Amino acid sequence: MAILGIDIGGSGIKGALVDVAQGTMIGERLRISTPQPATPEAVAQTVQQLVQQLNWHGPIGCTFPAIVKNGYTLSAANVDQTWIGANADQLFEQATGCPFHMLNDADAAGLAEMKYGAGKEHNGVVMMLTFGTGIGSALFVQGLLVPNTELGHLEIRGKDAEHRASDRVREEKGWDWPKWAEKVNEVLARIEALFSPDLLIMGGGVSKRFDKFGQYLQTKAPLVPATLQNNAGIIGAALAASELFEQGHQIPNAH
Ligand code: BGC
Repeated sequence: MAILGIDIGGSGIKGALVDVAQGTMIGERLRISTPQPATPEAVAQTVQQLVQQLNWHGPIGCTFPAIVKNGYTLSAANVDQTWIGANADQLFEQATGCPFHMLNDADAAGLAEMKYGAGKEHNGVVMMLTFGTGIGSALFVQGLLVPNTELGHLEIRGKDAEHRASDRVREEKGWDWPKWAEKVNEVLARIEALFSPDLLIMGGGVSKRFDKFGQYLQTKAPLVPATLQNNAGIIGAALAASELFEQGHQIPNAH
C-alpha cells in the first residue's frame, strides 16, 4: 500500500512515495525549495508541483512545523504568520485534487520512529524531541500519540526552550558540542521532571551526529538517537494519512 508523504520545512519541501506496510520509501525523493514568502497559497502551489512531478493521484500525508488540529494550522513560531487559522487540509486538497492530511512535523517523525525506528515496541511513556530550527516534541503513551505537545515552547528561565537549545541556536552561537549539550541538558531535565518518560528519542537533522554529543547528555531514562533521521517526517506523514484514509493505492511498478 502506497501513500505520498510530504515534509514541509523552512528551506525545502520534500516528498516521496512510502510503502506504509514496510515503513520505507519507494523510488526517488523529490525536493523543491520552499517559496518565499511561504504563505499557505504559495506552499500549496509548490506542493501541487511536487505531486504533479510524481504523477500522484492518491492520499497524501504532510508534515508542518506548527500546531495542526483537524486540518487547521493554529500557530506559526518559525513560519509565515498567515498560517495561523488556515484551513490547510482544504486548501491543499483543492490545490492537489488528492485527499490530504496535515500534521505536526515532530508528531509525524515520532509516529515513524515508534513504528519503524528507535521507539519500536516500546510501551510506557516515550518522548521524542526534534532539534532543528525549533524544538519539536511528540509524546507517546503505550504507543498512542498525544498530539501537539509543543514542548519547544516550554519556558525555561524566562525563555522558550527552543530559543535556548535548538540546533539553529547552536549554529548561530558557534557553540561546540559540550556547550550546546549543557543547554540541551537543561531542557531534558525539565522535561523529565514534568513527564517522567521511560524512553527519550532525540531526532532532527542533528541526531545523525549523536556520536559527537551523546556522551555529554545526561538523563535518568535511556536516551537514544532517532534512526530514520531525514526520512522520519515523510514516512510518519504517510503512516498518519494511511490510518485516516484507511486504504492507500497499489504500489506502482518500480521503475
Ligand atoms: C513549532 C512546533 C514544531 C517545532 C519543530 C516549533 O517552533 O512550534 O510546532 O514542531 O518547532 O519544527
